[in-house]
Amino acid sequence: MSEPVQTPQTFPTRIFSGIQPSGGLTLGNYLGALKRFVQKQDEGIETIYCLVDMHAITTWQDPIKLRQQTREAAAGFIAAGIDPTRSILFNQSQVSAHAELGWIFNCVARMGWMSRMTQFKDKAGKNSENVSLGLYAYPALMAADILAYKATHVPVGEDQKQHIELTRDIALKFNNDYKENFFPITEPVIEGAATRVMSLRDGTKKMSKSDPSDQSRINLTDDADTIAKKFRKAKTDAEPLPDSLEGLKDRPDARNLINIYAALADMTPEAVITEYAGAQFGTFKPALADLAVAKLSPITTKMSHLMQDPAEIDRILGEGASRADAIARPILDQVYDIVGMIRSRQV
Ligand code: AMP
Ligand code: TRP
Repeated sequence: MSEPVQTPQTFPTRIFSGIQPSGGLTLGNYLGALKRFVQKQDEGIETIYCLVDMHAITTWQDPIKLRQQTREAAAGFIAAGIDPTRSILFNQSQVSAHAELGWIFNCVARMGWMSRMTQFKDKAGKNSENVSLGLYAYPALMAADILAYKATHVPVGEDQKQHIELTRDIALKFNNDYKENFFPITEPVIEGAATRVMSLRDGTKKMSKSDPSDQSRINLTDDADTIAKKFRKAKTDAEPLPDSLEGLKDRPDARNLINIYAALADMTPEAVITEYAGAQFGTFKPALADLAVAKLSPITTKMSHLMQDPAEIDRILGEGASRADAIARPILDQVYDIVGMIRSRQV
């Protein structure tokens, strides 16, 4: 019997992506993910966006804070331009297909594949005997998030590339094991000037909501003064800016600020360096701070306004979950049939 052939036209373009509500949203989330989620929606593509609360609990989350952060992230999505009538916006735990397909993928993925995941190695560190089993299985649940919708494209930051490759491996193995061209081989969409926004304290480390130093990141909830102060204090060197990107090769902190400026201004990093060639950081940093405040403060304001009505946010998430479930449930039912499960319960 010949191998199943992937025919991309079988799978209509559908975008899925997720963000963990394990802390506040950062500028990294905004530029690497959220801003591009909005662009995809506005291009008229079918877009499904998920607050992955089940991924969040792979590390300890205080229940009250988790609920609060999930609402805040939802408010951040809407404030940044996600329209819950044009995109589907929901929290993962309200659609049980994620957990169910996640289990099936735990049985498809190989231990060796999981052991190579760098995010697990980074997060577990020397403590790997003592982290949750869920943290190890995390990428299989992520594959389930994506494939429960047969999503063809996933916009993410650079750090998620390996997880999307694992999703492709899981889809391929499932298709081959069961001799069905059932799941698409999903493409990561990693584009723009800020696919990896770095810490403001260390240009070689990713900006992260879990960094112990609040100075290392811009939070979407920071006010204008805080944003300006954080950029003013951002780590840089004493040299003026060069006239080409080549000159930033060994200056990761400076390069990071140029990338952030470019992404916020919708310019290329080349255009930014041309504009600021020879400038001191004393000039560039305030310009960057002004730009960041101009772009982020309307979002911050809208976010805090939305947060005043948590019941409305919950309503939006519930409605999104019903729409998501209507897509994922029939796909999951087919998976159960393919795998050989009896489905005889009357519903
Ligand atoms: P997380 O906050 O880890 O759930 O990430 C959610 C999304 O934001 C993913 O697509 C990440 O790749 C993206 N992201 C997180 N941090 C950064 C960063 N520092 N730079 C660019 N993208 C990021
Ligand atoms: N693993 C992603 C992160 O930490 C979050 C995530 C979970 C995700 N499921 C997803 C991203 C599905 C894209 C698609 O950033």
